[in-house]
Amino acid sequence: MNKNVIIVGASSGIGLELTRHFSCLKGYRIFALSRNCSDLEKEFEKQAHVTVHRFDLAADVHSQLDKIPFPANGIDYLINNAGFLIKKPFELISKEEFSQSFAINAIGVMQTVQYLLPFLNAKFSHIVNISSMGAFQGSLKFPELSAYAASKAAICNFTEVFATEYADSTIKMNCLCLGAVNTKMLKEAFPNYEAKVTASEMAHYIADFTLNSGYLVNGKIVPVSLSTP
Ligand SMILES: NC(=O)c1ccc[n+]([C@@H]2O[C@H](COP(=O)([O-])OP(=O)(O)OC[C@H]3O[C@@H](n4cnc5c(N)ncnc54)[C@H](OP(=O)(O)O)[C@@H]3O)[C@@H](O)[C@H]2O)c1
Repeated sequence: MNKNVIIVGASSGIGLELTRHFSCLKGYRIFALSRNCSDLEKEFEKQAHVTVHRFDLAADVHSQLDKIPFPANGIDYLINNAGFLIKKPFELISKEEFSQSFAINAIGVMQTVQYLLPFLNAKFSHIVNISSMGAFQGSLKFPELSAYAASKAAICNFTEVFATEYADSTIKMNCLCLGAVNTKMLKEAFPNYEAKVTASEMAHYIADFTLNSGYLVNGKIVPVSLSTP
């Protein structure tokens, strides 16, 4: 039984740990996508079931995906893990920075899903979008994250609408809103904060959710948090 998994944002932090995790599971072929590919290529060069592809969510999404040999009707799981965080006082965020945040965290994700629709397994597929507790309605919010949190909130909302629009299909989509995880992104945003969760622990949770929850859960925004900064 061969299953195909796409991980977007695979080069560091949670995405790298997700790629490592799936690469150790029997019967999975992994498409690892991100802008920086050289370390990924080195790490997985001897593992033919992991292929690494250069992909920038802020560029032309459809034409980049066109170059990747995805199997027709063969994608079982898509994890939209990439994220871009800008931490700046609201009044200093430029139009370009707002655009970049929405391009990477929201529009690029929606275009990726759009492109991959014909490639999804016709019997069943599960798409998992990675958002943030900062985008979860009613959660504690932090200053200077307006571009990040608003763009991450957009994929929460997208998840609900998509699940409704495709309710009668075999495609399931959910969104995980993560709390603090020890990664480069967290260190840059909150240099003095030590999260209780490692990237590897979170990757295990996300992988398990991806593989096992799509049959029972659809269109849900799920908080996954022990702590926030
Ligand atoms: N760490 C936390 O506390 C925390 C909390 C809540 C939510 N999250 C979310 O968890 C996800 C993983 O983040 P992380 O903490 O593991 O951060 P990370 O180590 O900075 O990883 C971010 C990943 O996103 C990719 N990425 C960034 N811009 C991209 C672009 N334009 N096109 C394609 N890929 C791009 C990066 O790869 P390249 O730079 O190589 O492209 C990298 O693989 C993100 O969606 C983040 O928002 C994290």
